[in-house]
Amino acid sequence: MLQKKHHPWDETTFRLKINCPQCGCENDVDQKAAEDYYNQRIYSYFQTIHGTVLDLGCGGGFLSRFMLANNPVTKVYGLDRGEECANELADLTKNGKFQFIQADVSHLNNLFAERRLDFLVSRDVFMFISNTDRYFNDVTKLVNCGIRQMGWFMKDSRRMKNHLRPEQIAHEYRQRGWTVHLESLDWYKSGYFIRADR
Ligand SMILES: C[S@@+](CC[C@H](N)C(=O)[O-])C[C@H]1O[C@@H](n2cnc3c(N)ncnc32)[C@H](O)[C@@H]1O
Repeated sequence: MLQKKHHPWDETTFRLKINCPQCGCENDVDQKAAEDYYNQRIYSYFQTIHGTVLDLGCGGGFLSRFMLANNPVTKVYGLDRGEECANELADLTKNGKFQFIQADVSHLNNLFAERRLDFLVSRDVFMFISNTDRYFNDVTKLVNCGIRQMGWFMKDSRRMKNHLRPEQIAHEYRQRGWTVHLESLDWYKSGYFIRADR
């Protein structure tokens, strides 16, 4: 409900009253509270990750920051094609465990050795990948333990570079030997989460 009225990551502030359907209590929710609430919900899907991690399409480091602060990781590679990311990640790159790689996802195979990565995490990135076959083949070759992928699917969105539905994405991982759990996220607009393990 909140997402339809206001986006929790809006840069403008907002404050609204929401009635709890269970207890009937009226709650005041502002932008900061909404952002914290949704961040924690997202992060809860990115627990128990360890070793060497690739944050694919890392942007400003939303997932990388959480990985470094809350998971027993030895190295986090943030990969993004965006030039502006280097500035946004300047504080993180001071952390010896983090490295930013400015590259397109299509170059993954040239950047890492086989089975070099323990985990791949991504949020809101898969729909921007055009050559999905190459992506599935590359990550299957490079990632050792698990993939945690959160995203949205809107069939009429012009922003999407591929139109694989979450069920089809899960199928592609399964075909390549991954054990996959797919969950649709009713609190994340048109959202889904895929957990793929070996
Ligand atoms: C919606 S943002 C998500 C950023 C971050 N994952 C987060 O959770 O805040 C999508 C990111 O994917 C990156 N991206 C999109 N297509 C890409 C590609 N083909 N190769 C590398 N990065 C890509 C964009 O530059 C952008 O930073």
